[in-house]
Amino acid sequence: MFTNKANERITYAHRGARAYAPENTMPAFHKALELGAEAIELDVNLTKDGYAVIFHDFVLTRTTNIAELKHLQKNGEKTGIHHLTLEEVRSLDAGKWYAESDPYEQIKSGTVPAKIAEGFTGTIIPTLDELLFFIKASNMLLNLEIKDQTKIDDNTHTIVHTILEHIQKHGLEERILISSFNHDYLKTIHAEMPEMALGILTEERIENPVEYCKQLNAVAYHPCRTFTTADDIKDLREAGILVNIWTINCEHELYAFANWGANGLISDFPDRAGTAIQLVTS
Ligand code: G3P
Ligand code: MG
Repeated sequence: MFTNKANERITYAHRGARAYAPENTMPAFHKALELGAEAIELDVNLTKDGYAVIFHDFVLTRTTNIAELKHLQKNGEKTGIHHLTLEEVRSLDAGKWYAESDPYEQIKSGTVPAKIAEGFTGTIIPTLDELLFFIKASNMLLNLEIKDQTKIDDNTHTIVHTILEHIQKHGLEERILISSFNHDYLKTIHAEMPEMALGILTEERIENPVEYCKQLNAVAYHPCRTFTTADDIKDLREAGILVNIWTINCEHELYAFANWGANGLISDFPDRAGTAIQLVTS
């Protein structure tokens, strides 16, 4: 079972160190390691031919150069990972947009100079296989979020099994916590591989999160920061459930949630999260 003990506070680099490198790419994961994050949070989707890749959005326009590649636009602006084969996905540039869009004020203010962002041009979308080699070598923990594909296709069997096969192949059962907004995926995983650690990911407040986590055999609760209170954290912690909160970027909020006892701070700025944890625990 996942090894973060209930009394530990750790940093999860959200989509990698997303404030400093293009999200869900190897440069972002390397940056997370360099900045001292204990864990990475990332999103997994399937290609048309069934390969597991690291990608967040339903469509490809925001974080790739698909707009320049007419031959890959299988469904116009709504072309998604699921419309393309792995070979086609790997021909996309997932770093160029980052230099062009100045996604964070830090780039504009000079904390991350624009010329560093330009250096990401040519970055490709990683496969889950590649990422797991990195997790194994780096000794990091992983929060693997399964993106809900039921709007595309009812392929619960395919996405869940593809992911579980990867985890078993790499022998990383104890270093991975699986979460999803689709709680049916989590039920399927528990039925097939009860030793996997599961996190209830939710963007709405759940009435009785302790009971809900127990019902679904989840070891962790992953609520949005906007509705999470100190009392929620206390109740969950007392029940032995890990509380990992997303996505916290402001220093004062990181400090507050760490102080309230949250186990995991999921942040685009793993350096800031690490500082908050240090302040609370030293
Ligand atoms: O897993 C926490 C967080 O990543 C959930 O939202 O949209 O960033 O995947 P999203
Ligand atoms: Mg996510």
